[in-house]
Parts: sequence; C-alpha cells; structure tokens
Amino acid sequence: MLFSPACERNKGPILAALQDWLPAQAQVLEIGSGSGQHASFFCQQLAGLTWQASERGAVLADLQVQLAAVPPASLAAGSRLLPAIGLDVGASEQWPRPGFDAVFSANTCHIMPAAAVPQLLAGAARVLRPGGLLLLYGPFHNGGVHTAASNAAFDAHLRSLDPAMGVRDALALQEQARGLGLAAVADGAMPANNRLLVLERRP
Ligand SMILES: C[S@@+](CC[C@H](N)C(=O)[O-])C[C@H]1O[C@@H](n2cnc3c(N)ncnc32)[C@H](O)[C@@H]1O
Repeated sequence: MLFSPACERNKGPILAALQDWLPAQAQVLEIGSGSGQHASFFCQQLAGLTWQASERGAVLADLQVQLAAVPPASLAAGSRLLPAIGLDVGASEQWPRPGFDAVFSANTCHIMPAAAVPQLLAGAARVLRPGGLLLLYGPFHNGGVHTAASNAAFDAHLRSLDPAMGVRDALALQEQARGLGLAAVADGAMPANNRLLVLERRP
C-alpha cells in the first residue's frame, strides 16, 4: 500500500483552497498522484468533480489498485474518480486530450528533474481549456530566497540526493509559464511553508 502521512496533513487545507478555485462540475487532471490520497479525498468531498489521476513508471500500477479500491458509494454526489493513466510529463504522447478545467499537482516540481518542470507547464498549457487553471502545491523559493529555513534545508537535502531535484524558483516558473500562455493569478501561503501557485490559461 502506498501511503503518505504528508497527504493526510495537507489534504484538508488543499481542499479548502481548491473550493475557492475550481468551478462547479470541474474536470481535473492530476500529475504525479502518488498514493492517490488527494484524488480519493477530493472526490469524496466535492460534488460533481471528475478527477483524472496519473502517475509514471512503477508507481502507476499501485496507484491504479488503490483508486480501484475506493468504494464508489464513498464519493460525493456526481463525482467520478477515473482509473489512473500513465503520464510522464516529458512524454508528450501520454498527455490526455485537451479540455480540462484544471491541472493539479502536489509536491512534484521539486522531485522531477528541473528540465521536466517546463514540460509540465507546456503540457498543462496544452490540455487546459482557455480560462482553465494550473494549481501547483508544494515548497517554492523566490529567486533563491527561501520562505523558511526548513525549506532551504529540504532543498539542500534533495540536491545532495540528486542534483536534478530541488525546490524550484516560483518567479522563474511563473516567467516560463507566461511564455507558454499561463498567467500567474495567485500565490497562496499554505501550512508548513508550502504554497499554492495558481496559473490561468490565457485564450
Ligand atoms: C513526492 S511525490 C508526490 C506524490 C503526491 N502528489 C503527493 O502529494 O503525495 C512526487 C511524485 O512526482 C512524480 N513524478 C516525478 N517525476 C515525474 C514526471 N517526470 N512526470 C510525472 N510525474 C513525476 C513521482 O512519480 C511521484 O509520485
């Protein structure tokens, strides 16, 4: 069983933020769903939601098993938790068809290689409908300035494990996104020195 204690702590605050941003009957693509705890919880709490979870590599099979075990009766009225699909942000052919109201991804930008972050942005820009939102949750710094000492230590730890990992620069990410047609519309503080970056797909 995949299980993330961090997901259990952050799913409530993220849900509250999503309620501010998601339209009714939202169709959402999640990148790097991991254990699927966010996917199942949000579908259990938000009526009318359609949630497309995704993962890459070996994690996908476990995620599919865990989502299949979520009792349909536990979902909120009209919500649909779709079977997880394989999606590595760098594999353009794996991205689903456009038309999503939102793309959500939690705690992935600092794990995927730096070079994959623009691929995530570009893929999201392709699959979002105009006016759709990219919602990125996790730790970020601003031009090298960390919002907390713990984030700086986490960044150093990640880079010691693999130089391709690391806490990303929100300002650089927002600038890259702007060039792809995604405008930064919010940057919300979340518990434990995390943030929710919100970017809107311009027509
Ligand atoms: C720390 S886990 C976060 C999982 C979950 N979103 C959560 O909040 O618990 C990072 C996830 O990013 C995914 N990931 C890393 N590189 C990726 C890539 N290139 N494309 C898609 N997902 C990727 C990993 O498979 C992993 O599940």
